[in-house]
Amino acid sequence: MGRIMLIAGNWKMNGSRAGAVNFVQALAALNLVPRPEYALLICPPATLIGQMAAPLAELGVRIGGQDCHQDPNGAFTGDISASMLADLGCGYVIVGHSERRALHGETDHMVRAKARAALAAGLTPIICVGETWAEREAGRAAAVVSAQLEGSVPDGVDPMRLVVAYEPVWAIGSGRAATVDDIAAMHRVIRAGFGGKCGDPEGGLILYGGSVKPSNAAEILALDLVDGALIGGASLEAADFMAIVDAAAA
Ligand code: PGA
Repeated sequence: MGRIMLIAGNWKMNGSRAGAVNFVQALAALNLVPRPEYALLICPPATLIGQMAAPLAELGVRIGGQDCHQDPNGAFTGDISASMLADLGCGYVIVGHSERRALHGETDHMVRAKARAALAAGLTPIICVGETWAEREAGRAAAVVSAQLEGSVPDGVDPMRLVVAYEPVWAIGSGRAATVDDIAAMHRVIRAGFGGKCGDPEGGLILYGGSVKPSNAAEILALDLVDGALIGGASLEAADFMAIVDAAAA
């Protein structure tokens, strides 16, 4: 495995200041040894980024946001820009998560604009794509994901900063991850589109997300075309997150 894996936690709208302290302490107690073969990332809610950035950095763990606005600043009440995340020490931001697409009406066009804003602010966007169960049942999963990829990923992106997370909507938070065969097949579809996006078919990273947990992480992360994971529920506990990290190293 030549490329560096990215193991990323997405805390969604979970976590408190006290809980963040406990998480960092628990991670430190697990004697996290930074390894060159993978990068670790936590994306807590925006309220905790300022508090967690320095202690996570001390442990060699990167920090990112869960969403950003497409503009650098302005009259957008409640929104946060990519440059604000960069200012807090973020290196990454998740964009186009299916919860944002479904619950906030985000389109591919908006996701692409957010990804562009992230890149302009010096962040690496983690661009999420994934089909619903109905789309998979209808045999349209590959077509849906290809269209999302085409619409959401900016053209000409630096291969070093291209990260796509394949997250089947039905696998998120359901406890039912996609099968390794389905993951491998979809990652092949996504990688086939990378040449056109970044000029390097071998460049960029493709993460899998959706019910990744300590018990299934090893078989998923062992797949050739899987370059890491985006982990929701199982990233909230330091021990579970580290068990997944250990699976990546195995
Ligand atoms: P999950 O969430 O690991 O809880 O399924 C993944 C995600 O939404 O990124």
